Amino acid sequence: MSRQLHLNLFIQARGHHEAAWDHPAATALAPTDVTHYQDLARQAEAALFDSVFFADSLMLSNDAARSGRLWLEPITLLAALAVSTERIGLIATGSCTYTEPYNLARQFASIDHMSNGRAGWNIVTTWMEAAARNYGADHQAHGDRYVMGEEFVQVVKGLWDSWADDAVVDDRTGAGVYADAARIRPVDYDGDFYQVAGPLNLPRSPQGRPVLVQAGASDAGRDFAARHAEAVFTAHLEKATAQEFYADLKVRAAKAGRTPEQVVILPGLNPVIGSTEAESKRLLLELNSRTDPEIGRRTLSQRFGGQDFSHLALDEPLKPEDFPDPDTLETMRSRAAMIVRLVDREGLSLRELLARFAGGRGHYTFAGTPEQVADLIEDWFSDGAADGFNVMPPVMPAMLTPFVEQVIPLLQQRGLFRTEYSGTTLRDHLGLDRPADRF
Ligand SMILES: Cc1cc2nc3c(=O)[nH]c(=O)nc-3n(C[C@H](O)[C@H](O)[C@H](O)COP(=O)(O)O)c2cc1C
Repeated sequence: MSRQLHLNLFIQARGHHEAAWDHPAATALAPTDVTHYQDLARQAEAALFDSVFFADSLMLSNDAARSGRLWLEPITLLAALAVSTERIGLIATGSCTYTEPYNLARQFASIDHMSNGRAGWNIVTTWMEAAARNYGADHQAHGDRYVMGEEFVQVVKGLWDSWADDAVVDDRTGAGVYADAARIRPVDYDGDFYQVAGPLNLPRSPQGRPVLVQAGASDAGRDFAARHAEAVFTAHLEKATAQEFYADLKVRAAKAGRTPEQVVILPGLNPVIGSTEAESKRLLLELNSRTDPEIGRRTLSQRFGGQDFSHLALDEPLKPEDFPDPDTLETMRSRAAMIVRLVDREGLSLRELLARFAGGRGHYTFAGTPEQVADLIEDWFSDGAADGFNVMPPVMPAMLTPFVEQVIPLLQQRGLFRTEYSGTTLRDHLGLDRPADRF
């Protein structure tokens, strides 16, 4: 079979656009209403998406009062979706910095059991400085977070592997036995950050290990992804940087001793679809016109570690010197560097920069007809920029529907996307091997 495209639906409140929360086409349901997420996940499943995904930030963002940017705790949400869907993969974010590996290993193994093998963990180190204050902690330096994350992931993998696949015997005849104790081993991990005895208090889950997802973009982040990630989310404003990232990560994965095809790379795509090109551009303009530049200014400040941008005029061209050096930040360096590069190259005003980020927060926003969106997907997929896409509709569900009803059938006609699920687990959908047990 020819190489197949992968599609993940990134679900966030009423949509990814900053102005989605009060958009007339957005759902009337509250962002805390589980039926909103169940409806979207079922719609994505009917459209044969590989998976749905939920982010997490461990804090209330400083623009929440006017952006409705809030969400249910994502692992809890996956539990609800595990019982209201049957085939689609379920990916949630879990932070290495603010939880214990034993907790997290249990939670994702539980979701994998409950969903019959559809769980994925988006590994993050949490870049937002304000999150530290919710955990009585100091915000850690960018590099240190990855050092700690490395240990965290080793422990979690060890815990998931602490039961052999055949450890459960469940022989209930006479003096039977539930589990073969010789097939369950402790972990005995003794590192700089974590000391974990193990074993896990759950049998090995259907996928062996839930799928590991990550979005490292810095040097340390890319190496981390190359060692551990089986699916990689990434944000690009142009095809050329997506191609650079794609090639670099596949090389790093090979150097880490892995098969590059076992690392599925998914750039973000923020599609604004109209029946004509002019209509799609009008829809995008209309969305951006609903934004409040002061909300954008606050979000920008958060990205740059709380930098004060209040003195910058809205309609004068920005200069790179208006921003702190991204390499000095302890937040998300790669996204900050992307902003400074954009300002340097295009001389945008603050208003223009904020509009550029309001829809996709640094992901690729594309306004076009269904054919044009399908062309773009095919082009990136066949030209070394992507193995698939992390689809981020600006307004939910209104802007998901044309993607499902019009873009996916075109991708299927072109032989790029499945016409039915061929397997049952998230690993099956993504073409990933099931990790062998260590026994
Ligand atoms: C699609 C996508 C989703 C992300 N979701 C989260 C998230 O839910 N929580 C979080 O703290 N970081 C999230 N991140 C940020 C990444 O974990 C990572 O910090 C970022 O890509 C920068 O990489 P770096 O840490 O190597 O600099 C996400 C990134 C991308 C591209």
